Amino acid sequence: MKIFKNYKNKKIIITGHTGFKGSWLSLWLNYLGAKVYGISDRVLTNPSNYKINSKNIFKKSYFFNIENQNKLRTIIKKIKPDFIFHLAAQALVKKSYNNPHSTFISNSIGTLNLLNSLKNIKFKKKCSLVLITSDKSYKNREIKKGYVEEDLLGGYDPYSASKACAELIIKSYIESFFKNDDYLRIGIARAGNVIGGGDWSEDRLIPDLFKAYEKNNPLIIRNPNSTRPWQHVLEALNGYMVLGQKLYTNKKIHGHAFNFGPKNKSSISVIRLIKMFNKELKNIKWKIVTSKNKFESKLLMLNSKKAFKYLNWHCVLKTDETLKFVVEWYKNFYSKNGIKVTKFSIQQIEEYSKIIGKRY
Ligand SMILES: NC(=O)c1ccc[n+]([C@@H]2O[C@H](COP(=O)([O-])OP(=O)(O)OC[C@H]3O[C@@H](n4cnc5c(N)ncnc54)[C@H](O)[C@@H]3O)[C@@H](O)[C@H]2O)c1
Repeated sequence: MKIFKNYKNKKIIITGHTGFKGSWLSLWLNYLGAKVYGISDRVLTNPSNYKINSKNIFKKSYFFNIENQNKLRTIIKKIKPDFIFHLAAQALVKKSYNNPHSTFISNSIGTLNLLNSLKNIKFKKKCSLVLITSDKSYKNREIKKGYVEEDLLGGYDPYSASKACAELIIKSYIESFFKNDDYLRIGIARAGNVIGGGDWSEDRLIPDLFKAYEKNNPLIIRNPNSTRPWQHVLEALNGYMVLGQKLYTNKKIHGHAFNFGPKNKSSISVIRLIKMFNKELKNIKWKIVTSKNKFESKLLMLNSKKAFKYLNWHCVLKTDETLKFVVEWYKNFYSKNGIKVTKFSIQQIEEYSKIIGKRY
């Protein structure tokens, strides 16, 4: 792919490479000819997109907790990366209520450990660092207007708060230590909920839907009227990769945060999304239950004009195309006659890349 030619033969560290987004990012970067190194504490799910696709993808996978700052620093020093994508995090809101302390350690202190490790390494060549936070970093004011990058940060539930804390740490490190760094360039990426094949996380709508559908069980829906900016995982990853690359060439965006959200039209309610899936799959059963998480955000929208202006990034898939990508991936996975999942996933990356080529 022309726009990503800079990744060929580059050394890339992906933290959280065993997760949903990290496993897709690893596959894509490997496909582009990059040398991919992964850091994660474990494989979280079974099945796992990482396990399915990990063969011959990684130069090396390291398994440890990013609480261990010394190990993190030693490994980064050894690899001498050209790019780092930091995705490692406890990424589930519900789990953050059950495990608030470890959520803060992974998400806030983990980010601190990465930045502090980098502060203590003398880079002799450029390195782009893309820090993945979340749309939930914003203080949710339940407003209809999309959040812009300068809006207030904050969050009530431990997950959102841990991501907002990570952002404060990042800002402090940029201002205090990296502002005039000749080699390290930093960008912050805020995307909303993403969907795509290969996600089997707990308490996420799409994985729950396919798990329930496979077993002919009803899907339990907690917040039917919650509106989310649904976006395919490849759209957000495309944003992270464009940002990583642009940090190399444009010093002006060093230290900036960017929203990577879908167009307003794809902000639809959970129940409407399920009904759209039902048109593709037929006979989905669902059951609505009252949510106990009173602080789970009901409405979150991102304004992504800045990413368009500086990175020329925008979402390219229409909502029905996003759903088609998702349904086809799971259909192929669960089908007895499906093609090899890695091959199918690469086909989706190629198809998506062609769409970018046409619509950019
Ligand atoms: N998936 C979404 O819809 C979404 C939306 C907004 C932001 N994000 C953010 O994107 C990133 C990736 O999300 P995901 O959906 O792939 O998450 P995921 O839960 O699928 O994967 C998380 C990854 O982080 C690793 N990890 C967690 N804690 C760790 C620790 N202490 N030490 C080392 N590794 C650790 C896990 O092993 C795994 O590889 C996260 O930062 C998440 O907050 C995700």
